[in-house]
Amino acid sequence: TVTEDTAGFGKIILFGEHSVVYGYHAIAAPIGLSIRAQVTRREEAGSDLIIPGFDSADSADSDLPVRIAALITERLGIRGSGMRIEVFPNLPRASGLGASAALAVAIIRAMASCFDIPLTGREVSALAFECEQIVHGTPSGIDNTVATFGQPILFRKANGARDAEFSIVTAPHPIPIIIGITGVRSLTARTVSIVRTVWTKSPSRYDAIFEQIDGLALTGVGALERGDLAELGDLMNINHGLLNALQVSSPELEALVALARRSGALGAKLTGGGGGGAMIAIAEPDRTNAVATAMRLAGYTTYLTEISAATAPSA
Ligand code: MEV
Repeated sequence: TVTEDTAGFGKIILFGEHSVVYGYHAIAAPIGLSIRAQVTRREEAGSDLIIPGFDSADSADSDLPVRIAALITERLGIRGSGMRIEVFPNLPRASGLGASAALAVAIIRAMASCFDIPLTGREVSALAFECEQIVHGTPSGIDNTVATFGQPILFRKANGARDAEFSIVTAPHPIPIIIGITGVRSLTARTVSIVRTVWTKSPSRYDAIFEQIDGLALTGVGALERGDLAELGDLMNINHGLLNALQVSSPELEALVALARRSGALGAKLTGGGGGGAMIAIAEPDRTNAVATAMRLAGYTTYLTEISAATAPSA
């Protein structure tokens, strides 16, 4: 059986993607979509990795799961042990929803459970962070933290990033969020490098944008804690404009964001790496379905999720 504790959670970033890589605050929350894994031992040495529905032929990151699994067996001291690793992805790939971190967390937890290796949440997250470094060189650590702890968090990368600072943000009631998938796959490594390039050319210009986004994230904490949807929507709209200024939006993201706002959303923005991938919108509870329907009728895949009123974190 596949147990609950092998889940790696998918995530949305409400505020602060990209600037978080440079040490500024961001808010992220888990979504109802996750990746699970199951590991079983076998006599024959070495491991097999099975991911149903993973079309490895068509993308630049096709060998990533194998490299991630290899790093995890190495770090857990079980390299060469005979095992079969099955992954059950319930999260679109290369969509900005944190699939790579969720995959790492799921495999770490399943291997640790199969080989009776006790790991704390911090240890799971730190190892998933190392896996994220394979995925893109300079992860902030926000994706692996949410994938591990499954709670809405205010996050800030620490020096060296392994021991990031984060605190759980509690909403007074569930906050409904619509997720729209552009259908254009985009690797975070690419958009992170776009931002790195423009920032390197003109650090002070881009630091000024990061600082504004930092302010939005910090203001967002209060809005989330009050459950103030209108304020959250305003802050999301501004964050999206600033992400566009960072050159990580795309025509599809702009179309979806415009459509969501036209259909009554209080706010909409790209989420995660951008350049394609996913966007999120927030609306009054009685408008949420109308916004999602308009997006679906325009041909986009949508998911409804909510930022939950937080529960106790796992150790
Ligand atoms: C990706 O979900 C978020 C980025 O800020 C990258 C990172 O934080 O590692 C774009």
